[in-house]
Amino acid sequence: MSTSAVQPTAASPAAQQFAREGYLICRQAIPAALRDFIATEYQILYNARRLKIDPQVGAGYSAFGVDAAETLMQMLLPFVEIQTGHKLWPTYSFGRIYAKGASLARHTDRPSCEVSVSATIAQSGKESWPLNLVSLSGKKVAADLMPGDLLLYKGIEVTHWRDEFLGDTQLQLFLHYVRQDGPYAKYKFDMRPSLGAPPTKLVLEESKKDKPDGSQPRTVEF
Ligand SMILES: [Fe+2]
Repeated sequence: MSTSAVQPTAASPAAQQFAREGYLICRQAIPAALRDFIATEYQILYNARRLKIDPQVGAGYSAFGVDAAETLMQMLLPFVEIQTGHKLWPTYSFGRIYAKGASLARHTDRPSCEVSVSATIAQSGKESWPLNLVSLSGKKVAADLMPGDLLLYKGIEVTHWRDEFLGDTQLQLFLHYVRQDGPYAKYKFDMRPSLGAPPTKLVLEESKKDKPDGSQPRTVEF
């Protein structure tokens, strides 16, 4: 029996690893010119005080869904679909500038993060600062991401964290998706009317029902 016409990407080695282990590292997926554009955008946002102090990481600044991040999420959609073997809806994007001393407690993500991308955009200093996770087979993985590298992971299922940051600054974008045919499809656009729209409280209320185990809603400033 051939199923290749139904899901042509499902059997690729990348999609198989994603299904089995719950994560995938993709090197140099974002070209330098695009990284420079995004980093410049976040410098402007920081200078304009449009990034908020981020209590989740101790030392850092962040923002929900700025235009450059939403655009990158939409741009990467076909790539992430091919890598994971799933048809996806984008949900929301989030950007964070980590500062020296930042860390991230062990956690899983809310339902809008069924398929998530953590993208390193820029970093100052040469300190290695891995994003740690426990794969679905129980393996501890320290994903060391250089600018342009992506970690694709199942955010609801895969516990992830970062130890203390000893470098100066690092810009990281988080791009989230749900499967079109999965149980979380209702989180398309994070329950907003469109990409680029402000966050809505509705999604946090729904998230508590669907994933009541205390996953931290790291998203929003209303
Ligand atoms: Fe997370």
